[in-house]
Amino acid sequence: MKQTNTILVTGGAGFIGSNFVLSWIEAVGTPVVNLDLLTYAGNAENLASLEGDPRHLLVRGDINDAELVGSLLREHRPRAIIHFAAESHVDRSIVAPDAFISTNVHGTFTLLDQAKRFWSALDDEGRRDFRFVHVSTDEVYGTLGPDDAAFSETTAYAPNSPYAASKAASDHLVRAYHHTFGLPMLTTNCSNNYGPFQFPEKLIPLMILNALEGKPLPVYGDGGNVRDWLYVEDHCSAIRSVLERGRPGETYNIGGNCERKNLDVVNAICDLVDEMAPPLPDQDSRRKLITFVQDRPGHDRRYAIDASKIARELGWSPAERFESGLRRTVRWYLDHRAWTDNVRSGAYLEWIDHNYAERLAR
Ligand code: NAD
Ligand code: DAU
Repeated sequence: MKQTNTILVTGGAGFIGSNFVLSWIEAVGTPVVNLDLLTYAGNAENLASLEGDPRHLLVRGDINDAELVGSLLREHRPRAIIHFAAESHVDRSIVAPDAFISTNVHGTFTLLDQAKRFWSALDDEGRRDFRFVHVSTDEVYGTLGPDDAAFSETTAYAPNSPYAASKAASDHLVRAYHHTFGLPMLTTNCSNNYGPFQFPEKLIPLMILNALEGKPLPVYGDGGNVRDWLYVEDHCSAIRSVLERGRPGETYNIGGNCERKNLDVVNAICDLVDEMAPPLPDQDSRRKLITFVQDRPGHDRRYAIDASKIARELGWSPAERFESGLRRTVRWYLDHRAWTDNVRSGAYLEWIDHNYAERLAR
């Protein structure tokens, strides 16, 4: 059996997945089959610009549905799978971990097993050329002290949240399917992404929208936790590099070389919203909306990525600077109020109530 030049993307209606599909169609242009359950985090509207485009097929379905996954593989015979589908929000994994185990662990297993069956039936050339890229996170490595070296591909796994543990489990399954069966797997472990279409439960879009609307800006703990930030388009270009030039069986860390304290990120957002949106009624700076609230349980203090392997082997490095990327992102949220109104439905409001009502201001 021979492959086509189609790729199968899972979770391609979520934040990174939809950015990936849009940039793939623009940069590469070969067909994409997009399997997405359209959970609260998935939104077909992100892909509205592809409506009627024969190169994109959105299939609503679960990666846990072995029959569906198998039939999509047999019907479309993709040359690669890019696996984004996941439950992705750490705070939700603390409140309700079940879905994280189901999708991130069992769903990844189902996908791997169906991929293995499909790949085994390919001819020699097809088996050699097939790729499965598993999109994972730096959170599998745990937390760093202020002077610790950044996470490298050989850092020991030490996941601290149910989300991170579920992603670590999926990474181990991927490793085993390569080692045991020879499935041509590649794993990427990336730091915090930001940019268009990010669901406003995550730090940057939540703070932009709250700042715009004059609502409190809930900073967990002392605001001194550090994250490494990468503009989403740079993550997408890194994944394309790994797909085309990465060595099967390898792991690649991806990062922006851009560590920032949460409080500094929130201050920068306040200043940008002050500059770009109408002033608050009292004309005061939006920084005054910052409210320190009860910390996230088990909150990792610092993430930092050593991305020298992907730079050395694949020639990838990020193109966007944080300051210009954040400005573009604030602009995007200000210009897409219909999108933000749509995604902040009843279910979203229930989550915000649940997560923040009991986090008393400190
Ligand atoms: P997201 O929550 O925005 O999107 C997840 C998508 O997966 C949604 O479209 C959702 O509908 C879909 N999905 C969920 N369960 C599914 C299922 N059972 N079957 C099919 N589809 C399902 O997530 P994101 O932020 O775009 O993250 C995408 C991937 O990248 C995840 O695997 C995440 O772990 C990883 N990652 C994210 C970041 C980040 O900063 N957001 C950083 C590194 C790695
Ligand atoms: O590091 C990669 C990970 O980055 C991805 O694997 C996850 O899918 C993604 O959600 C992200 O995880 P974080 O927990 O780092 O992202 P989040 O936006 O939830 O939080 C970023 C930081 O901001 C974190 O230190 C917690 C803090 N925070 C977050 C929220 C939502 C606040 O202080 N207040 C908030 O209201």
